[in-house]
Amino acid sequence: MAVNLENKIDRFERVAIVTGANSGLGYEAALAMSQRGLRVVLACRSPEKAETARRSILEVVPQGKLELLPLDLKKMASVRSAAAEFRRRHDRLDVLVNNAGIMYPPYAKTEDGFESQMASNCFGHFLLTALLIDLFPDTPASRITWLSSSAHKSGKINLDDINSERRYSKVASYGQSKLACLMYALELDRRLKNAGKQIRSNSAHPGGVISGLSRNMSQTALQLMKYTILPFVTQPAAAGVLPILEAALAPSAEGGRYYGPQGFLEMKGPSGRATIAKQALDRDVSEKLWQLSERLTGANYHGMT
Ligand SMILES: NC(=O)c1ccc[n+]([C@@H]2O[C@H](COP(=O)([O-])OP(=O)(O)OC[C@H]3O[C@@H](n4cnc5c(N)ncnc54)[C@H](OP(=O)(O)O)[C@@H]3O)[C@@H](O)[C@H]2O)c1
Repeated sequence: MAVNLENKIDRFERVAIVTGANSGLGYEAALAMSQRGLRVVLACRSPEKAETARRSILEVVPQGKLELLPLDLKKMASVRSAAAEFRRRHDRLDVLVNNAGIMYPPYAKTEDGFESQMASNCFGHFLLTALLIDLFPDTPASRITWLSSSAHKSGKINLDDINSERRYSKVASYGQSKLACLMYALELDRRLKNAGKQIRSNSAHPGGVISGLSRNMSQTALQLMKYTILPFVTQPAAAGVLPILEAALAPSAEGGRYYGPQGFLEMKGPSGRATIAKQALDRDVSEKLWQLSERLTGANYHGMT
């Protein structure tokens, strides 16, 4: 009987999705995963930017297996379409890096009625993960890695006004969104363990990396900081990506953990276990945030409690 070798190889190929893979840390993560032989799905909102990233990765990794997946995380309809499209193409997912994010935009409400940082950084990823969770093989190599930030330490989850309808502070909302990502990572890992699964959910942050993320900051202030404080608290994206790669790929990386740089103020240096702020470990708030996120997005985590 003829054996279709291509199908056999495909069945064992590891597949990763990186959201926001067209620039910054997402690009570096997609490149590094491609270099390690994973099939990488670049999930991006701009098809043109995604194609440019794909070509750029192929210049470094000509044998790279790369796919594009249109995804705008601030629109729940787009998240649902992207998940459906991914499921049409694949029957397994090994690594999901919930990386895409925005920082400090002026107040805006999305078509679903969410504040834009919460929608893009949190709710979109929360729904995407729920729509794909059953595709992960039940093994410790299956990873869901959520991008947090040192900004989570000043974050507070405002359960009564999660979308800042009463009062908006761009800084507070960013801090809330990065705290929420870390709490999702820890809460999902608890729920996976409760369900007897080996799949690991964890979180990572890159320290400080100059990237498109600072586009809403004062450019004058940034220029001043460039010659004063930034050299001490930033590193290139190729270094900032290492904690993400550790969390998502290293056999030793655990679920329910947070990875980041180990150097000055945990903002640069080699990757390792990072410090989790006390409020991220609040089980009661975490549970309530989860339930609120399920209600707002319509996400269904298949009864995982
Ligand atoms: N840079 C740092 O110092 C730092 C520190 C701590 C944590 N982080 C976290 O690291 C992650 C990546 O940031 P970065 O520094 O690499 O920034 P970046 O270069 O601006 O990359 C952000 C990526 O997210 C994408 N994105 C934004 N909104 C999206 C949406 N609605 N749907 C789909 N994709 C969307 C962007 O796409 P477009 O190109 O189309 O805008 C871009 O590809 C973020 O979660 C950020 O919070 C960064």
